[in-house]
Order: sequence, then C-alpha cells, then structure tokens
Amino acid sequence: MRSVAALAAFTAALLFTPPPSPPDTPLDNNLSPTPVLGWNDWNTFGCAVTDSLIRETADAMSTNGMAAAGYRYVTIDDCWSQHTRDPDGNLVADPAKFPQGMKSLADYVHGKGLKIGIYSSAGLTTCAGYPASLDHEVRDANLWASWGIDYLKYDNCGNTEGRPGQERFAAMRDALTATGRPIVFAVCNWGTDSVRVWGPSTGNSWRTTGDITDDWAAVMAILEAQPAWAARSRPGAWNDPDMLEVGNGLTDDEARAHFSLWALLNAPLLAGNDLRSMTERTRVVLTNAEVIAVDQDWGGRQGTRIADDGDQEVWAKPMSDGSAAVVLLNRADTPAAVSTTAAALGLADAPAYSVRDLWEHTTGSSAGGISAEVPAHGAVVYRVSASTLRPGEL
Ligand code: GLA
Repeated sequence: MRSVAALAAFTAALLFTPPPSPPDTPLDNNLSPTPVLGWNDWNTFGCAVTDSLIRETADAMSTNGMAAAGYRYVTIDDCWSQHTRDPDGNLVADPAKFPQGMKSLADYVHGKGLKIGIYSSAGLTTCAGYPASLDHEVRDANLWASWGIDYLKYDNCGNTEGRPGQERFAAMRDALTATGRPIVFAVCNWGTDSVRVWGPSTGNSWRTTGDITDDWAAVMAILEAQPAWAARSRPGAWNDPDMLEVGNGLTDDEARAHFSLWALLNAPLLAGNDLRSMTERTRVVLTNAEVIAVDQDWGGRQGTRIADDGDQEVWAKPMSDGSAAVVLLNRADTPAAVSTTAAALGLADAPAYSVRDLWEHTTGSSAGGISAEVPAHGAVVYRVSASTLRPGEL
C-alpha cells in the first residue's frame, strides 16, 4: 500500500503536471478544408489494379451522381509499379497494368473533372512488397508531380530500420510541398508511432486504426476506437478510420449505418467498391447529399459517442448552423429502440425541435425527445434543430 507521503507526492505530481500542449498547427497546404471524397481500388481489387479499371472508375464517378455529390479523387493503391527502380532510381509503372503510362492516365482522369491519387510507403517496400519511398522522397514526389498526381496515400510498411514515424512522414510532406504541385497527403500508419501528436501538422489525414474489412464486426471494431481520436480532427487535418466498405458484403442497413457514422466522424469518404457495377441501392447510399453534408460540415468538433447502452449507442456532432447531427445506432442482431434528447445533443431549450430524417428525407417535430426503432445492425440518422414553432405547428 502507498504511504501517505507517497500518495501526497503522487497527487501533487498530478495537479502540477502541465496541461497537454496545444494542438499542433494543421498542415497549412489548404488542400483538404473538408474531408476528401473519393474512391480507392484496394478494398475490392487488391493488387489487380489496371489502367482500364481506373479509367472506367473515373467514367462511372463522373456520370453516376458521385461527382455531382462532391467525389473527386480516384486513387491507385499498392502494386502499381515494377519490382525494381530504373537505372536512374525512378519508380516505373508496371507496363502490363498501365500500358499507356501514368501521365496519360492522369490526363484522362483530369479530363473527367476528377483528380488522381497514388500510393507508396515510408519504408523500403510497400505492404505488398513493391519498392517504396523512404530516402527517395524528393525523387518520387517529383515523378508523381510530373505525372499530374493530386493525392498520395503514404503507408507504413517496410520500415525495417525502425526509424521514427514523424521523421519519415515529415520527409514526404516536405518533398510534396517542394514540388509546388498541390498534392493531398494522406498518412497511413494505422494510429501508431504517436501520429495522434504529429498527424495534424504532417498530413491532411491520418489513419487512426488498422485495415477495415467488409463485415459488420470489423466496422464496429474500428468505430469503437474512434472517440479517443475525436479531439485531433480539425479543418485541413482529419482522422481517417479507413476506406468505406459500402457495397462490399454489408447489408443495406449496415452500409447505411457505416456511411452515416463515417460522415459523423468527418472521415475522408473513400468508396472501396466497384463503381462500374454497383447496385442502385449502393449508389443511393454513396450519394446521399444530406449525409455527405454532415461529413463536410465543421461545427467545432467531429462527432463522437455521447451515450452507450450496450448495443444501443448515440453518436452526435454539432453542425455549423446550430443544429446537431445524431446517429442512433443499434449494434444488436435484433431491432431495438434507441433514444436521446435535444438537450443531450447540446441544443438550447426551445418549445419545439425540427427533426430531419437524413435517410427517409422527411421532417418531423419533437418537444425534445429524439428516438427511433432502429433495425438490427443499423442506424437512424437525424439532423435536429431548435424551432420557434411548437410541435404540430411545424
Ligand atoms: C496497408 C494499408 C491498406 C492498403 C494495403 C496495401 O495494409 O493499410 O489500406 O493500402 O497496405 O498493401
């Protein structure tokens, strides 16, 4: 047992521990004032990425309502290069996968009014074993800039020498900046290496957690870790809980809940399904403008969990117009009622509240109680605002 003196010393140490240092200044490149909206091939295609896949995806995105909803970035993940650099030390796109070269592909994507992303790693090799960019940052950044690349996903594999993450990722940030080309910098080191501290000053986003897979338990496991990160997010610098699995093996209810929660977290919304063959129901999820508006709005903090009653949870986020977005989440295998109140959402006392259902696209009213019967593995999402009218007058 601790002595009284030891306890007093312990208490004094706690009291006099300086408060945590103020958040880092976000990376000042003005490239992601709101979270990026886009697509990435990895979740569906893995290493089977090709020129035609990227062109056809850009075609789909530009015509299927996604571009109109704000999606811009089409990103090539791992496995795009040859296994060795050329004699000058440059990465070389695999000619079997990209026979027309990367510049031609970037021109094509730009011609659709979209932007193009690429992938590398802050190590000797990428996660799939291709050459990566540690100590080649300036050469590689210049090559990508010469192709017209607009976004870099920068992974954390191949760090065989165990060098600190902050140093490795800052080197690429500085190399991208030095190109003079606007290139969004997406840090992907899975929440490790104190990225919580240096992420905001280094990247436009940083992965908070490990890789997502296309099942409900995996999506919920990632969600569970997100409240601890909420305070690090701000305009220009976003927490990234990983790409979307909408359209990949989730039920419709699960897909809507996943998309809604990622929007509430101000996450980059990166579709990971095959846009060329998705169902109309999946397209409707990915293009829900009212949910995307939650993602793109900064009301002072990202959303987080405000109530946890076992499998029933309430996640909420302030919106810049004074309303609140709320996700009533049911993680259980059977339907359940989930409720909260306008006061719990931080809304001022008012005679009535307007309650907009962001999936049904209907507006109801409430005297303060906010509740719904929520399907199994599902969510009901509202945007709640104080109204001067009384219930029934709305
Ligand atoms: C890591 C990343 C994934 C994906 C793969 C590619 O696992 O976290 O998102 O980029 O590498 O190999």
